[in-house]
Amino acid sequence: MTDVLSPEILPFDADALAGRTGRITILVDGTEPAHASARRIDRLTKGAVTRLMTSEAWAKVKPGESLDLTWPAGLAAEAVQVLRLPRKADVATARKAGAAIARTKAASLVLLENHPRQSDLILGLLLRAYDFDLYKSGETTPRGAVTLMVADVEGAKVAVASGNALAQGIFFTRDLVNEPANVLTTVEFAHRLTGLRDLGVHVEVFDEEELERLGMRLLLGVGIGSECPTKMVVMRWNGGVAGEAPFALVGKGVCFDTGGISIKPAGGMEEMTMDMGGAGVVAGVMKTLALRGAKANVVGLVGIVENMPDGRAQRPGDIVKSMKGDTVEVINTDAEGRLVLADVLWYAQETFKPKGIINLATLTGAIIVALGAEHAGVFSNNDDLCGAFLKAAGSEGEGAWRMPMAQGHDDKLKSRLADMMNVGGREGGATIAAQFLKRFVKDDMPWVHLDIAGVTLSKGDTATAPKGATGWGVLALNRLIADAYEMKET
Ligand code: BES
Ligand code: MN
Ligand code: ZN
Repeated sequence: MTDVLSPEILPFDADALAGRTGRITILVDGTEPAHASARRIDRLTKGAVTRLMTSEAWAKVKPGESLDLTWPAGLAAEAVQVLRLPRKADVATARKAGAAIARTKAASLVLLENHPRQSDLILGLLLRAYDFDLYKSGETTPRGAVTLMVADVEGAKVAVASGNALAQGIFFTRDLVNEPANVLTTVEFAHRLTGLRDLGVHVEVFDEEELERLGMRLLLGVGIGSECPTKMVVMRWNGGVAGEAPFALVGKGVCFDTGGISIKPAGGMEEMTMDMGGAGVVAGVMKTLALRGAKANVVGLVGIVENMPDGRAQRPGDIVKSMKGDTVEVINTDAEGRLVLADVLWYAQETFKPKGIINLATLTGAIIVALGAEHAGVFSNNDDLCGAFLKAAGSEGEGAWRMPMAQGHDDKLKSRLADMMNVGGREGGATIAAQFLKRFVKDDMPWVHLDIAGVTLSKGDTATAPKGATGWGVLALNRLIADAYEMKET
C-alpha cells in the first residue's frame, strides 16, 4: 500500500530560511515575488528570484508551472523552486501547482503563506506524491519529508486531513490497478477489500457456490476458464439515516482479460491487468467515504473474475442464463465486462433497492476511439443523475462526456437463439455495450454507466499522477455523494 505523504505544518518563520537545506518552494503571482516569504528569499539570494522572473525562460512558465534556481548563493538550499500560482488561480491550476512540488522526491520546504487556493494546492501535492516502485530492486529512493510554512496553521491542518482521506482512497485505486495479475488475483483482490472492515465498512465476500445459488451465471461463465475463483464483494458504508435506501456503485473487476477463447492479440495484452479498474474506483471511493466519515448510505458492489482460455472455458455460441432470467448468447467471449456487470447490477437492485446506481467499467476499446484519454464515456437513462455526475466531475477536473443511447443500437443485440447476444457489431460499440447493460437496469432506476477504458491508465504523467493508474473517478464520485446524497448539518 503506497503511503500518503504527511507534511509537517509550521507557522511562517523568516529566520529559518537561510540555513535550510534541501529544496525551497516559493509562490509567485505573475512577474514579481508577491508574498513576504518570496521577497525574503529574493533578498537572501541578492535578487536572483527577480532576475529569474525577468528572464526569457520565465515568460514561457504558465500558471501552475515552475522554474528552479539551483545552488543559489546566500542560501544553504540546493534549489529554490519558483512556482507560478496567481491568487485568482482555479482549482485545477492550484492542484497542478501542488503537483509540481511533488514531481521530485527531494525533501522540501514550501512557503505557502496565505494563498487563497492553499487547500487545492495541498491536495495536488499529496496526489502527485505517489510512486509504485514495489517491484524495482535497488534503484528506488524514498520520498523526502515535506514541510509547509503557512500563515493559517489550522486551515492547513484541515486541508491536509481532508486531502489525506482523498489521497488514501485514490492510492488504494491506483495500487489495485497497477498491480500485475499474478499478484492481484481474484482471491487477493477480495482479500484487500476485506481490509476496509478496519475502517468500519461492512464487507461481504461471495464465493462461487453462493453466486451459483443466486443464479449469477453470466458472471460465473466469464471465470470458468480460470484457476482463480470468481468472487463478488459487497461493501456497505452506512453513515446516513439508518434504514434509508443507499446509493449504489457497481464495478467491473476483471483481474486479467485475455479475451478468453475469443483471444486478444499479443501486442498490448499486458495492459489488461487494468481491466479491474471500475472495481478499483468503487473500492477507492468506499475507502474515502469511510475515512472522512461521510454521512451517506452507499453500497459498493464488484464482480471479480479472470477471463482466460482453457479446456473448460466458455465458448463463443454458449447460451447462458442471467440472474434476471434473460438468456444471453455469448458470441464473443472478449465482451465479458457486460456479462459481469449485468448480474451484479441485477443483484444490487434486487437486494438494496438503491436510490440510484452508477457503474464503472473499462468496458470497450470503442470508447477510446471516440474520446481518447481525456474523457470517460457517460451513458444514462436519467438526466438529473447524469447532470449531477457531470457537474461533480467538472468541478473536480475529471473529464467526462455524455454519449447517446438509442433503440437502434439495442436492436443489434437481437439473437437467433436466445434473448440477446453479447455483441452487436463494431459501429457504435460503446453505445451497444451501454444498451446491453440497460437491459439489466429496471425502468425507473436512475442509472449512469461510465466507460472508463480510456481514462484508467495514462501513457504519460498527468497533472496529478505519474504514468500508469490515474484513480480517475474517485474525486468525482466522492463529490457527487457529498453534494447530492449526504445529510446536511442543520
Ligand atoms: N477490457 C476490454 C476493453 C478495453 C480495451 C479496455 C482496451 C481497455 C483498453 C473489454 O473487455 C473488451 O475486450 N471489449 C471488446 C468488446 C468487443 C469484443 C465487442 C472491445 O472493445 O474490443
Ligand atoms: Mn474483453
Ligand atoms: Zn475486459
